Amino acid sequence: MSGFVEIFEMGPRDGLQNEKRLIPAVQKIALVDMLSGCGFRRIEVTSFVSPKWVPQMGDAAEVMAGITRGPGISYAVLTPNMKGYEGARAARAGEVAVFASSSEGFSNANLNATIDETLERFVPIMAAAKADGIPVRGYVSTVTDCPFDGPTPPENVVRVASRLYEMGCYEISLADTIGQGRPETIDAMLSAVLNEIPAEKLAGHYHDTAGRALQNIDASLARGVRVFDAAVGGLGGCPYAPGAAGNVATEAVAAHLAAAGYETGLDPAKIDRAAAFARGLREGELA
Ligand code: HMG
Ligand code: MG
Repeated sequence: MSGFVEIFEMGPRDGLQNEKRLIPAVQKIALVDMLSGCGFRRIEVTSFVSPKWVPQMGDAAEVMAGITRGPGISYAVLTPNMKGYEGARAARAGEVAVFASSSEGFSNANLNATIDETLERFVPIMAAAKADGIPVRGYVSTVTDCPFDGPTPPENVVRVASRLYEMGCYEISLADTIGQGRPETIDAMLSAVLNEIPAEKLAGHYHDTAGRALQNIDASLARGVRVFDAAVGGLGGCPYAPGAAGNVATEAVAAHLAAAGYETGLDPAKIDRAAAFARGLREGELA
């Protein structure tokens, strides 16, 4: 195989949000700055969410103010509502991401709202972001399995992904939040979504709980998806998804893609150093 496949680095956000120990902002900034030298085009830095819900992300503005922005890199943040969007705009985020679920159980646990209520909250974000010239990415969680509702029917994913796409999200990231997807369930889900959204507008966001994320990436590559979210060191998980382990590790995805003949534009040695640093943050070694 050949061609370019982009890894969207999630480590500072999805990777660190689940850590119980509050990691000092200065160390998060150091991680982002290391990642800026690795060759990524997009790095998800933090979340402008309620600090009561995710205390680890309570220093979002401080982290965004402290990073050294590299040329041509988009620094992304999560925004669940207008309050979050306003924080992101003030922090000069390069792009923002709205996040919805394809299952009601996870929507309620993660955002304290039904799927339709969360989509309504995104309408003013989309309008403000359009006026401000800030691109918006959209996540759809629990695309194959939900920790509360069980298997997710592909038509539920199609409904939410299509709404986000119609609203103006420039890319839809399809998330296996708890890492229970299999190549067959990922393929069935993608096959349904591709009836409505072209592959070049999709990304795969696969947690690696069951060790199948690389297989799920292969199934997605076969369907034409060319963007994958990953976190250095395989850190992370969602605090509102019981049993969710980390994102698939960036270094593993980069090596896997290189072995299959794809270009990623990433520097493996620098990624390994960032991964070691990120793992140290998790273990508190660098505190
Ligand atoms: P709520 O309690 O219903 O909201 O939570 P509320 O509007 O009643 O506000 C409660 C308090 O939070 C208020 O403060 C608000 O001002 C404040 P108080 O008046 O009590 O002092 N607040 C905020 N503060 C800062 N920034 C904000 C903000 N919004 C409200 N943006 C809410 C609803 C959406 C706020 C909450 O549920 C929330 O923040 N959820 C985020 C959960 C989260 O971050 N989860 C992890 C990220 S998603 C993920 O990991 C999945 C993903 O990786 C893909 C995948 O793997 O599936 C993307
Ligand atoms: Mg995630």
